Amino acid sequence: MEHRSDAVFAKPSIFRDGIREYAERSSSPVSAELAEIAEETARATPEWADISTTAVQATFLQMLISTAGMRRVLEVGTFTGHGTVAMAAALPDDGEILTIDSYVADKRTQDVASKAFERSSHGHKIKPVLDDALSALQEVEGDFDLIFLDADKPNYISYFETILARRLLRPRGLLVIDNTLWGGEVLNPRDLPPAEEASTGQEWVERMFANWAHDVVKFNRHIAADPRVRTAVLTVQDGMTLVQLAS
Ligand SMILES: C[S@@+](CC[C@H](N)C(=O)[O-])C[C@H]1O[C@@H](n2cnc3c(N)ncnc32)[C@H](O)[C@@H]1O
Repeated sequence: MEHRSDAVFAKPSIFRDGIREYAERSSSPVSAELAEIAEETARATPEWADISTTAVQATFLQMLISTAGMRRVLEVGTFTGHGTVAMAAALPDDGEILTIDSYVADKRTQDVASKAFERSSHGHKIKPVLDDALSALQEVEGDFDLIFLDADKPNYISYFETILARRLLRPRGLLVIDNTLWGGEVLNPRDLPPAEEASTGQEWVERMFANWAHDVVKFNRHIAADPRVRTAVLTVQDGMTLVQLAS
């Protein structure tokens, strides 16, 4: 999805101009149902459309799932369901994907996801969990072949620790974490004081997201130093980290 000038949140790209679009054009097109979710996301919540997984990411996740014959997936952060439906399509007919979202920020995105799950021929594999991610992670039962972590960045370390403590990831399974390069801001996180109460919602959101660079840096440092896991930070889209339990 393109960065939009009117988006509330337009993170810089980690690539030089046009490369991201070139990669999209040079990759296989996604299914009609994924294209439709992307269109509905842009229509229903144009100011948030940037935070959806892209077509290349969707295909990448599908390839991970199908290559390894994965059957059980957990997604933390559903949003409008683009990644959920993509991953569901790559699962066998009796596979399942649990997807967690609290939708505190924007109920319109829940509506897009619910409709997408209803009309998808892969909808029977999708189990939405409407809850705060930290409490849901205490409840769900492992083990999962793939966990896609894509929610609020200040909680990334807690999500990671809960996943390991509760053994939610099976041995040789994959934990995939999105946005781990945070638009390149990880190299130079800014310090913006929280916006004044009187400021616009847009300013508040922009400051909050800018400050998330610090959380992403802390998280990257945390897992890089953890001997329990092996980690590869990929320069896919906004940074996608692959984590496996160390054997
Ligand atoms: C980046 S979007 C997820 C994108 C999605 N995975 C995709 O493929 O398009 C992040 C989502 O995480 C959700 N979220 C943020 N913090 C959360 C929390 N503490 N608990 C549950 N969901 C949360 C937001 O509501 C939002 O829909």
